Amino acid sequence: MKQGTHFARARARINVALVKYWGKRDSRLNLPETGSLSVTLSDLGTTTSVRFDASLAEDRFVLDGQEFHGPPRDRVSAFLDLVRDLAGVRERAVVESVNDIPASSGLASSASGFAALVVAATRAAGLDLPPEVLAPLARRGSGSAPRSLLAGFVEIVAGTATDGSDFRVRCVAPPDHLDLVVVVAMTGSAGKAVGSREGMERTRRTSPFHPAWVAQVTTDIERARRALLDRNFEALGRVVETQAFRMHATALASDPPILYWDDCTVRLLGAVRSLREGGVECFPTLDAGPHVFVLCRSGDAERVASALRAIPGVRRVLTTRPGHGAEVLE
Ligand code: DP6
Repeated sequence: MKQGTHFARARARINVALVKYWGKRDSRLNLPETGSLSVTLSDLGTTTSVRFDASLAEDRFVLDGQEFHGPPRDRVSAFLDLVRDLAGVRERAVVESVNDIPASSGLASSASGFAALVVAATRAAGLDLPPEVLAPLARRGSGSAPRSLLAGFVEIVAGTATDGSDFRVRCVAPPDHLDLVVVVAMTGSAGKAVGSREGMERTRRTSPFHPAWVAQVTTDIERARRALLDRNFEALGRVVETQAFRMHATALASDPPILYWDDCTVRLLGAVRSLREGGVECFPTLDAGPHVFVLCRSGDAERVASALRAIPGVRRVLTTRPGHGAEVLE
């Protein structure tokens, strides 16, 4: 490790998938079965500092002021091992993360978490790596994390090589490419019933719809990419909505079934439909949780946000936009 490079702090934002990743072709390398497309959001994210310290006997992980032992710490530690191997570092580290979002809320904090961690850990280990090298590393932490490394509209190209060497992440369009606001409506549910890792594996193994899902994703990405490049908000919104329902349909068909929604989710989806019937172009999407992300134009954001705020059971409504990629803070 280079002199004076033991510490670094980085920030990354969450992303919401416009075309979802739901299934792995290799669990050890955490390689996705399909590509995905997302938008990195401003405001919501994770700030993480990493300090390698020769006096530590083991890695420590502090999240939102609370020290974790057991599986969360082990996952961070296994990830740090990858960075240590790459950098030729042996020291254990203290990792301190602060989320602007509730952990395990289904608001993809693992994406911003591992994106911030890979940037901070590699920098603290004395490495200065470009996103194309950080991306496969970030993926080992969480499959959606490479997308949070980049700004705006981001695509993962899954590749087909067994060693993952043709896995890529790329920016399809910058944050200001499209007039787009994402209104996030959080329901009252705390935590998620089935983590996305377990959920997608159960779906892959047991859902009879899953092969059809996998076969469809390439077409969905092409449609979403074309709509995005054409700045065709309505066409993009329609793909995004359909694609989210397809992901939830394949998860629902698992054995035992996986249902991420609560009653408030259903009310929110109804409200989005009513807004649309009233002439407001807005489209919902949902990740592995009950919260609803609504895509709309900036001129409609206030109307959409206040309609969602009025739904019984909604805990919080946030308005956010396409945002920046991960960055080193110090
Ligand atoms: C529904 O990236 O959390 O949000 O790779 O197992 O950590 P792991 O999964 P994760 O899965 C995200 C699933 C999703 C869809 C998406 O973000 O593409």
